[in-house]
Amino acid sequence: MPNLTSAYEELADAYHEGVDPEGAGLSDPTFDSLVGDVRGERVAAVACGQGRDARRLADLGARVVGLDASESLLSHAYRLEQQAPRGIEYLHADAQNLSDDLTASFDGVVCYMALMDIPDLEPTVRSIARMLKPGGWFVASIIHPCYKTPADGELIDYVDGSTRRIVGRYFDEGPFTSPTRLAILPRVSYHRMLSTYLNTFMAEGLPIVRMVEPVGDRPVWQTVPGILYFRCQRTPSGAW
Ligand SMILES: C[S@@+](CC[C@H](N)C(=O)[O-])C[C@H]1O[C@@H](n2cnc3c(N)ncnc32)[C@H](O)[C@@H]1O
Repeated sequence: MPNLTSAYEELADAYHEGVDPEGAGLSDPTFDSLVGDVRGERVAAVACGQGRDARRLADLGARVVGLDASESLLSHAYRLEQQAPRGIEYLHADAQNLSDDLTASFDGVVCYMALMDIPDLEPTVRSIARMLKPGGWFVASIIHPCYKTPADGELIDYVDGSTRRIVGRYFDEGPFTSPTRLAILPRVSYHRMLSTYLNTFMAEGLPIVRMVEPVGDRPVWQTVPGILYFRCQRTPSGAW
């Protein structure tokens, strides 16, 4: 077994309780609309954690392989698969250095809310591009890098009482301590500028065909987007 670590190893149980503890699968209409009709397709869920995205893909009719660097999170995924089998295969693997055995073997790949938690973007996106068959698709969602930066917060507009998002240190790419969405405990995330994501996808042969910035639940996320989604399409030749 490779010597893998993930910052999520330490918060695996709390994270699991915070997202999909019953194992129902991801519930996200934006995700569903971006992946589209996956019936019969072979799809990988890269950095699947305890498998909620993998379970949703299987429920949508895909043949799914989920992979993650955290063995603790994967243990929840295995257990939930045993309790309610969907035919999902799980692998303990580093998204930054995926095995050549996976080359050109998937119709689609998803990476849901995870690219900002993986230290090296370029090898990760290269691994993902290599996994795809020519013309294959890639769907990712990330914390929005323009509105959740290494120095950010909120202020109240003293005129109308509305909440405003304030951001700073946008150009400071690299690791930063970020409270999790679930406020479980601080963890290390990797801030990258929006252009870094777009240019890396392009350079690795994954041009973007659609982006979505949905309105969120909290009032402040109804004024700016908190999450950014991409759908990319692998170029027939690929860049790798
Ligand atoms: C916010 S969680 C998202 C998990 C899952 N996609 C979901 O939405 O529930 C981020 C995930 O990235 C995984 N991760 C971090 N670095 C990784 C790496 N190098 N290779 C594979 N997975 C990694 C973590 O273990 C964690 O499961």
